[in-house]
Amino acid sequence: MPLNFDKMELLPRPKLFDFHGVSMTHFFTQNWENVQNFQARPDDILIATYPKAGTTWVSQILDMLYFGQTSPERLTTLPIYERVPFLEMTIPNLVTGKDQADELPTTPRLIKTHFPVQFVPKSFWEQNCRIIYVARNAKDNMVSYYHFDCMNQGQPEAGDWNSFFQRFMDGNMVFGPWYDHVNGWWKKKETYSNIHYMFYEDMIEDTGREIDKLCAFIGLSPSAEEKEKVTSGVQFDNMKKNKMANYSTLPIMNFKVSPFMRKGKVGDWKNYFTVAQNEQFDADYKKKMKDPTLQLRCVI
Ligand code: PPS
Repeated sequence: MPLNFDKMELLPRPKLFDFHGVSMTHFFTQNWENVQNFQARPDDILIATYPKAGTTWVSQILDMLYFGQTSPERLTTLPIYERVPFLEMTIPNLVTGKDQADELPTTPRLIKTHFPVQFVPKSFWEQNCRIIYVARNAKDNMVSYYHFDCMNQGQPEAGDWNSFFQRFMDGNMVFGPWYDHVNGWWKKKETYSNIHYMFYEDMIEDTGREIDKLCAFIGLSPSAEEKEKVTSGVQFDNMKKNKMANYSTLPIMNFKVSPFMRKGKVGDWKNYFTVAQNEQFDADYKKKMKDPTLQLRCVI
């Protein structure tokens, strides 16, 4: 079902509140019961990320891999947020992400979530669905999130950089602390084997290699030609130009403030963190990120 933005009111910016121990806005909680009762199918693929970690990139890769040959028109006529519904999204007068997912005609259904692991509807676990998690280093993730909150009317006011920086470290972000999110999903791999945990920085370093690993996980063997088509189609500059992938059709985003496809780089944090902020951040990071097996790179 297409999203009809004509009916969307100009919404005031939402406020954060505590929801089962995680800071959230009502856009992602008000359909809670229905979302929790979502009926996953065994072949569904859940794309899970902390916001701004590379969701759209991996979504486009998966959509191209699965449907680029069989229904290429999907890629040129439907925006990414219709091809890959955002499960918990509930904006007044728009079809909910849950209803969109229910009505997806594809097999498999590709479904996006930003939920921390403990919020995921239980049917995904019961059906042993494949889950793809993407993590991005906290510093670049923070910078990307800051620009997103500046330009997106559906997000709480970003405030100035310094206050955003503190709020990120305090975990007062929509979908909660980055630290809990990446750690919670990392830990889940110990008890649930059908998770492929990816890193944004690895995708930047070698997209083709990461697509190969992804294909091994989902059991696809694209030809060299198909793979090349996907790899080049999802390069940053190509996705930035692609109206069906770049969110330019979504009126709640003000691209004059910042485009959705902003820089797509590792290390942009250096343009925002002061030396003092970087020291403060690193000391705090060390205290929060105790698991030596989870290493994220903020330079490559
Ligand atoms: S969202 O709103 O949570 O779904 O956003 P998400 O897609 O997770 O993250 C957006 C950031 O990912 C960058 N991006 C890419 N980087 C490199 N290559 C490709 N193809 C690509 N596609 C999206 C996007 O530019 C955002 O990062 P920043 O740092 O803001 O540029």
